[in-house]
Formats: sequence, C-alpha cells, structure tokens
Amino acid sequence: MANYHSVNDFDVSGKRVFVRVDFNVPFGEDGRVSDATRIERAIPTIKNLSERGAKVILLSHFARPKGQVRLEMSLKPVALAAGQHFHTKPIRFAADCIGDAAQDSINTLSNGDVLLLENTRFHAGEEQNDPDFAKALAANGDLYVNDAFSAAHRAHASTEGLAHLLPAMAGLAMERELDYLGAALSNPVRPMMAVVGGAKVSTKIPLLLNLIKNADKLVVGGGMANTFLLAQNIGVGKSLCEPGLLDTAQEIMTQAEQQDCEIILPTDAVVTKEFKAGAANRTVPIEDIGADEMMLDLGPDSVNLIAEKMESVKTLVWNGPLGAFEISPFDTATVEAAKFAAKRVKNNGLVAVAGGGDTVAALNHAQVRDDFTYVSTAGGAFLEWLEGKTLPGVKALEK
Ligand code: 3PG
Repeated sequence: MANYHSVNDFDVSGKRVFVRVDFNVPFGEDGRVSDATRIERAIPTIKNLSERGAKVILLSHFARPKGQVRLEMSLKPVALAAGQHFHTKPIRFAADCIGDAAQDSINTLSNGDVLLLENTRFHAGEEQNDPDFAKALAANGDLYVNDAFSAAHRAHASTEGLAHLLPAMAGLAMERELDYLGAALSNPVRPMMAVVGGAKVSTKIPLLLNLIKNADKLVVGGGMANTFLLAQNIGVGKSLCEPGLLDTAQEIMTQAEQQDCEIILPTDAVVTKEFKAGAANRTVPIEDIGADEMMLDLGPDSVNLIAEKMESVKTLVWNGPLGAFEISPFDTATVEAAKFAAKRVKNNGLVAVAGGGDTVAALNHAQVRDDFTYVSTAGGAFLEWLEGKTLPGVKALEK
C-alpha cells in the first residue's frame, strides 16, 4: 500500500489544483521542443484532473535562471507545446508564478481549465525553498500534486515546501515512476543485474557502492571501466582514466565480492589513437591496449559476456552508455547490449528499467527505448535514487 495519496483520493471538482510538472525540456535550433517526453508523461494527470473539474495550475522550472527573470528561459513556448499534447483545450499561460499576474489568471479559470505559470526559478525563493515564497505560491491553490520525479531530488519550494502547505499527492506519472523504480531496485525479482557506464567513476562512487548492495551482477562499462582495469594492473594506454581512484575502484571490487555481487569488466576493447568519428581502430584483448591507444568501446567478446550473464537475470537496471556511443563506430557495444536486453524483455519477461542523462539518448540511438519496461526521463534524480538516497520531493508526499 502506497504511503502517499493519489490524485483519485481527492474530490478535485472546482478546486485550484497545483501540479508540479517538469517542463524542463530540450529545445532544438528551430526553437521547438526537441523531445516532448516529459510533457507527454504529464498529460494523463492533467487530463484526469481537468476531466474531474479541477482548475489545473501547472508549476515548473525551466533551465537555471538563478532567481533572475530571463526571458529566454520563459515557459511561454512550453505552454504552446504542451497544448499540442493536451488536445482538449488550450493551455493558458500566466507571466508570473506568484503575485497579481498569477492570481488574476487563476481567478479567471473555469472548472477543467489548465494554466501554466511562469518559471518558478525566476524567483530566488524557489531554489532556497524559502517559506515565504512557498506561502505565496500556496495562497493561490487548494491542493498540490507532484508529478515531477525528475525534479524530486531538489528540495525547492515548488517540489518540497509547497507539499507541506497544501494537501499533497503523487501524480500518475510520479506513481508509475516510483512503482517501476521500486520494483527494480528496492524489491527486484532476482537475479538482478545493473549496467553502469559513462565517463567517470568519480561521479558515481555512491551509486556503485549502493548498487553492489542490491545487485547480483554489476557490469561496469564506458570510461569508468578503465579505472577498474588499471586497479587490476591492466594497462589502459591513453584511455580516459582516474588514477587517483584506483584504491576506490579496488575497494568497490572487494566490497562487491563480500556482498556476493559479481563485477563484470570488459575482456576486450575497441581502441583508437584519435577521439573522432570513423577513426582507424582495432579490437584487442583487454591486456593488449597500446600505450598510445584509448579504449572507446567494449569489444564483441565483452558484449557476448554481458549477454551471457544477462541471459539468467530477471531484473535489469541500466545507467550510462558502454562506449563513446555518440561517435560511430564506437556505439556498437551499447547498441548491441541494449538490443539484447530489449529482446529479453519481449521474449523472456525481463524487467528492464533505465534512466539518467545519456542513457535515454543511448537507448534512442539503439532504437529500443520503447522496448524497455520503463525508461525514466530523470537525470540527476535517477542517479540519486540509484545511490539509495531519499528524494526530498518524494519524501514530502508521504502521508
Ligand atoms: C533535470 O533536467 O534533470 C531536472 O529538470 C532538474 O533540473 P536541474 O538539474 O536544473 O535542477
């Protein structure tokens, strides 16, 4: 039984309902939203509330204006984009999230209308979680819904403070996210495998330490693998590596062994002398990386090893690419391993959950994003969740 309220627990008809969404979405050079996934995921909650007669007031941050009004960081164009996904009626826009501009717009709402307020981060009080700013927000609403898991690692006024001032509940996207992530990490069907890639060990130490406690197998790929290999006295040439973290890598491996978590490192590598697309490269056993070479991708033996280990697992948590997937041909291991996981989801009931920064881009690149069981749109929040942290925006929703 969830320990937070759901949108369906409240009679919302005629009520002014704040919905904290994460409309911090990327824009392309053409000035249009280039990936609307976060908007799409918020629509079911908006629709539910609007159809049940709520006056829906959307709150979000956008980018990092640091308490200043920066018009290039206005949410106005996002209101238009969101309206294209919420077909029922246009999404209106108010030029501020507190004060007269907000209040006047909210006062004109009829039941079922949807209004997006301007970027909460135009006020310094947002990031400071200033109680007065939270009160100024709360003055214009009756109920509070948080549907922004991807911003829940921030203890800001609109993600945390407000939840203590109004009756608070989790939105439908937030609930889904918590259910899937909980099922994958807190309560996984075993065996459970984690795949962690990306450039640096230094940014993922707490995450690795937490994962070895929970996972039965941990694949370390990407640039991070080099530090682990060097800690085992395997030369990695000019590969991205953090020599200052060899003891940490060793300690992680020791702790993993004590906790019965098998660490899977690359056994071969695709190496090159230049970091550029199409650079001349060769595939070598991991012991044979030349002093003037760098590993930009895992080799086919490593991919086969990962696939073989994945065969027996029932739950998979994936964060970070295995190689320099943005530049061909160094995307192969990431693409192959992701396709293998997607196939197992389809044919063998593997529960595969992924998220965090580059991961979604990598899965898109492999064209398997929709084949994973659940892909989180969260970056930092997903990482903090993998670290085992309690996210303030989630904690504040507890009954
Ligand atoms: C994100 O894109 O990860 C969230 O919107 C949080 O943004 P922030 O890192 O600027 O707080």
